[in-house]
Amino acid sequence: MKIGMVQFAPDFGAVNENIERVIRLIGNRDAQIWVLPELFATGYQFVDRSEAEALAKNTSKLMIQRLAKFARERNCLIAGGFPELDGSKLYNSAFLVGADGLMATYRKVHLFDREKEIFSPGNMGFPVVEAGGVRLGMMVCFDWYFPESARTLAKGGAQIILHPSNLVLPHCPDSMPVRCLENRVFAITANRVGFEKRTEEQLTYIGKSQIVSPQGEI
Ligand code: ACM
Repeated sequence: MKIGMVQFAPDFGAVNENIERVIRLIGNRDAQIWVLPELFATGYQFVDRSEAEALAKNTSKLMIQRLAKFARERNCLIAGGFPELDGSKLYNSAFLVGADGLMATYRKVHLFDREKEIFSPGNMGFPVVEAGGVRLGMMVCFDWYFPESARTLAKGGAQIILHPSNLVLPHCPDSMPVRCLENRVFAITANRVGFEKRTEEQLTYIGKSQIVSPQGEI
């Protein structure tokens, strides 16, 4: 199986442009699964909850339709992050999209820092789905910090962990080989680069996206 990831610097709020940029970056490369960063289409640093809610309301459906069209044309699956509105609750979620649209979602359990002012913690646990002939699990960024995330996915039968991220701390690239070794899984961390400064705090994203084997090889 061939899996690819896209590392780039999304422009905050430029949802359509970010989606089209990802599609251009993939170009004519082939993979059965593509992994995109956390909140890849909207950007990460929302100034408040209402900004995130408006972006979730206005863009999620179109994003999934556009990615499903790409999945149909290229016979692949795509995972990434998006703000997911469910009733009055907003989640920092991951999607798995295929030719027919949304196949699975995961709602980030371990919210990082100011995310707690914007999102509710995930309420679905760590689901595992069978797709493309393999068992896939998803976790989002800071979930890496808690060994229980990858452990729960592996115990649920996951063979491959798709890990959309917006990493700002330095340690995840060193930790994922251990997560993969101890759980006998592959993991794909798709992180973003660049920085955002939409509040008083500047966030710098570390890049270093990686694919790790069950032997801990990058
Ligand atoms: C993070 O969880 N986006 C740091």
